[in-house]
Amino acid sequence: MGKIILTGDRPTGKLHLGHYVGSLRRRVELQNSGEFEKIFIMIADAQALTDNADNPEKIRQNIIEVALDYLSAGLDPEKVTIFIQSQVPELCELAFYYMNLVTVQRLQRNPTVKQEIQLRGFSDCEDDEVQSRKGIPVGFFTYPISQASDITAFRATTVPVGVDQAPMIEQTREIVHKFNSVYGETLVTPEMLLPENAVCCRLPGTDGKAKMSKSLGNCIYLSDTSKEIKKKVNSMFTDPQHLQITDPGHVEGNVVFTYLDAFSTEEHFARFLPEYANLDEMKDHYRRGGLGDGTCKKFLYSIMEDILQPIRERRAQYQKNIPLVYEILRKGSETARAEAARTLADVRKAMRIDYFDDADLIAEHTRKYQD
Ligand code: TRP
Repeated sequence: MGKIILTGDRPTGKLHLGHYVGSLRRRVELQNSGEFEKIFIMIADAQALTDNADNPEKIRQNIIEVALDYLSAGLDPEKVTIFIQSQVPELCELAFYYMNLVTVQRLQRNPTVKQEIQLRGFSDCEDDEVQSRKGIPVGFFTYPISQASDITAFRATTVPVGVDQAPMIEQTREIVHKFNSVYGETLVTPEMLLPENAVCCRLPGTDGKAKMSKSLGNCIYLSDTSKEIKKKVNSMFTDPQHLQITDPGHVEGNVVFTYLDAFSTEEHFARFLPEYANLDEMKDHYRRGGLGDGTCKKFLYSIMEDILQPIRERRAQYQKNIPLVYEILRKGSETARAEAARTLADVRKAMRIDYFDDADLIAEHTRKYQD
């Protein structure tokens, strides 16, 4: 059987460089590898609503932004199915049945959900709820189960995600195991596919903070203009002890070098900074002293432009034809729905709740009441 990918993102904002190195770039490679029979990329609006109940308009506005980011990063709707989660209602029905296979206690142990509860300021104490802090929405608490539906509905063998999603994949595998042992072999057990190198797992923000995040205002967006990128690169955090060009510098914790680690290739050196053959040589010079931050930033800016300009150009093309983008999403959602419906039919059959198609059941009850 062929390998199938499912992955996705919550549409809570435009995608940034962290998303690009962490997942988008990889997805485009996977798309072009020819290794996969089918690839589904989901805009997880329903999951985003689980902790944005009071701000549905934010989600509604960001679906198109994420779709534009996908297409401009190089995802090709001829090769991958891009769809909107809420437009596949079969996913809800699957989740409803899976809920019977998971305990409250198991959900409470999910480390990512625990962390998100902290970050969102949800309270898990009943007294607080009465006073001021908001309690945990049930939909939010159970989203790992909904995520298991997303993955299994498409019979995904492979789920490319960041490490923060590991608990969701583990939960999905447990649900698959439980379902198959109770109802018979039906669902496919997925594997997680992590990013290849460490820098790609977590690109720091332009301010050097651990993570690029919209709320910290330290992002480079895929949709940024050249001017915005120049400004952001120039204001990047470097080495506070590297005051004079001749001072020895540190590359660890120096954001410009972290970004060069993530993005620079020997080809970039040949084209934009031929004084060095590769990043190691450049780092050596910086450490010795004599290499200024200005030169490093100029080089990084050239690389950023090299990567982002084609993305920006594709975005501009798609932005001129928004109805086409919605059409891509509509068609993708139809394809996804047909696929999920097949799995749902299998699930109903395995659970033996397909009563009207079950001739044996009707015959059995006919006999029961004969004479
Ligand atoms: N939880 C993922 C995120 O926050 C989004 C998501 C929803 C997802 N369903 C999924 C990812 C299924 C992979 C597979 O980014």
